[in-house]
Formats: sequence, C-alpha cells, structure tokens
Amino acid sequence: MSPLQVTRTLPEDATDAALRADVHDGLTSVPKTLPPKWFYDARGSELFEEITALPEYYPTRAEREILAARAGEIAAAAGARTLVELGSGSSEKTRYLLDALTDLTTYVPVDVSESALTQAGQALVEARPGLCVHALIADFTARLKLPDTPGPRLVAFLGGTIGNLLPAERAGFLASVRGLLSPGDALLLGTDLVKDESVLVRAYDDAAGVTAEFNKNVLAVVNRELGADFDADAFDHVALWDATNEWIEMRLRSRTAQTVKIPAVDLAVDFAAGEELRTEVSAKFRKEGITAELAAAGLELTHWWTDAQGRFALSLSTVR
Ligand SMILES: C[S@@+](CC[C@H](N)C(=O)[O-])C[C@H]1O[C@@H](n2cnc3c(N)ncnc32)[C@H](O)[C@@H]1O
Repeated sequence: MSPLQVTRTLPEDATDAALRADVHDGLTSVPKTLPPKWFYDARGSELFEEITALPEYYPTRAEREILAARAGEIAAAAGARTLVELGSGSSEKTRYLLDALTDLTTYVPVDVSESALTQAGQALVEARPGLCVHALIADFTARLKLPDTPGPRLVAFLGGTIGNLLPAERAGFLASVRGLLSPGDALLLGTDLVKDESVLVRAYDDAAGVTAEFNKNVLAVVNRELGADFDADAFDHVALWDATNEWIEMRLRSRTAQTVKIPAVDLAVDFAAGEELRTEVSAKFRKEGITAELAAAGLELTHWWTDAQGRFALSLSTVR
C-alpha cells in the first residue's frame, strides 16, 4: 500500500443523488431544513478552518487544550495501532494523537470533503514517513466499511460534530460506531458542553461575519450543483439558542417574499418574508446525558476530560 491511499466509498453519482433527495425533502418540509453536511465543499471547508481561529469560536481551542494535555493518557488507555477519524477535516488537532500513539501504523481519516481529505492526507504522509494514511471519502451517517487494518482501533470523532446530529440520528450513529468496534477498541468523542447562552450564540454569530458566510455557502452549493437561483444577499444569518433542546440552531432568514427555482429537482420554493430555513443544529451536552446515550449504544464511558474552563469535553468509551 502506498503511504496515501484515497478511497471513495460511494459511486460518483451518489453524492448528487443524496443532495437532490435532501434538497427536495428539506425544502418541501415545514419548517424548511437542509442537513449540515452540504456546507462542506472546498470553500465550505476553508471557511470552517477560518471559523476555528475566530476569537468567539472557543470549541477548537478548548479541545486542542485537552488533547495537548491528555494525549499521552488517551494513547496509554487506547494503545491503538489504527486511528480512524470521522469528519476529520484538516486533521489539525489529530497531530497530538498521532504523536502520542507510539504503536500506530495506520490513520484512516473519513470525510465528505474530498478537498479537505486530500490536502490533510498529503501533508501527513509528507510529515510522517512510515505512517499509512488511508483516506475515505464517505458519509459517516451511512453504513461505513472500514479498511482491514491492524487493531486495536481508536475511532476519534472530534470537534463536537456529533452535536450536528439530531437525537434520533445520534442514537443510530452511535450504534453504528459501536458496530465498528471490537473488544479492546475505543471511541474518543469530543462534545461541546452546555454553558452561558451569550458565549454560545457569539460562537455561531461572530463579529467578522465568517460564520454567516459559511452558513450561506450551502446556498452556493445548491446553486452550483442543482442549478438553483438562490440570492445569498436575500437571506440573513441567524444563530439562536434553544434552551429546551439545549442546542444552537443556525438558520437563514428570507429578507423578502421570494421564489427560488431549483431546476434539477423540478422545484419552485416559496419563502415568505421572514421565513427561516434551518441549516444546522449544534447540540451541547452534559456528562450524564452523553454517558446515557453511549450506554444505550452499548458503549461504556471510561474517561472524561475537560479543558480548564469546563467548556468542552473529550470522553473515551469502550465496548461494554
Ligand atoms: C465541524 S467540522 C470538524 C472538523 C474537525 N474534526 C475539527 O474538529 O476541527 C465537521 C467535519 O465533518 C465533515 N462532515 C460533516 N458531515 C459529514 C458526514 N455526514 N460524513 C462525513 N463527514 C462529514 C465536514 O466535512 C467537516 O470536515
């Protein structure tokens, strides 16, 4: 195997078919929704990287702080020879794990963003000769087939991305992750924690407007891929805290009454003035809640680490 191998697990037209189905179903439902995975074309992945450096966006810095302090403990507990990372993006924080896992032979980053995967994968094989990088272009919410690589396996899911799944989706996802693990394997999960509303809202509505641009990027994706005529300037970025569900919602609010044509799915979608399209939820967690969700999926939380300010947590779980 060459040091960087890239595998597309879906047929070329599967992404297109999935986008059509999501756009059709999401824009004909009430309220209108789109799944967050469609933010991440090359531009969306770039914008996400910009977000991680914003002063208001604490999750990346908080998670990096935990990894920097605890990578040795994580590595000792996991002893992994293969590291699988779901939604790996730039793999920037992963280097703490790659440095600490001394028996590691193989890294399997998994992402829908081909540009993020190949860029990160190429940089890693250059920086770490001897490490096999087997990148998978895949949807982690679909059935994943991992390459046959040496165990034990550590599956990492960082960045708080699990919060982008709705509770029922999360249950299915955690059960499918459990299915990827054998005894001796582990899951390292990054979860953003419930905290003061103003801190949370600012993290998703920054002063420089980068998150607004990221949010509107989904309209550019639908325009380019499905021939739609969304005018990004006709929508406002909205971030709000839902205290009942304990999640942030990102929405796009139509400034006026307008009709958007989406020829590839044969739709003309009416927006009332002020009508909102939900583009992302980002759930925030408490230790008891995520422990119970893991247990329901057959996983036992064995370690829990937070940053010094208690904003973000990393947990390690094993098969029960
Ligand atoms: C919030 S970013 C986190 C990136 C990185 N893990 C970090 O902590 O900075 C989410 C990442 O997951 C990827 N992603 C989102 N939905 C996905 C899906 N359904 N399947 C695979 N990757 C997905 C995105 O392309 C993006 O790289």
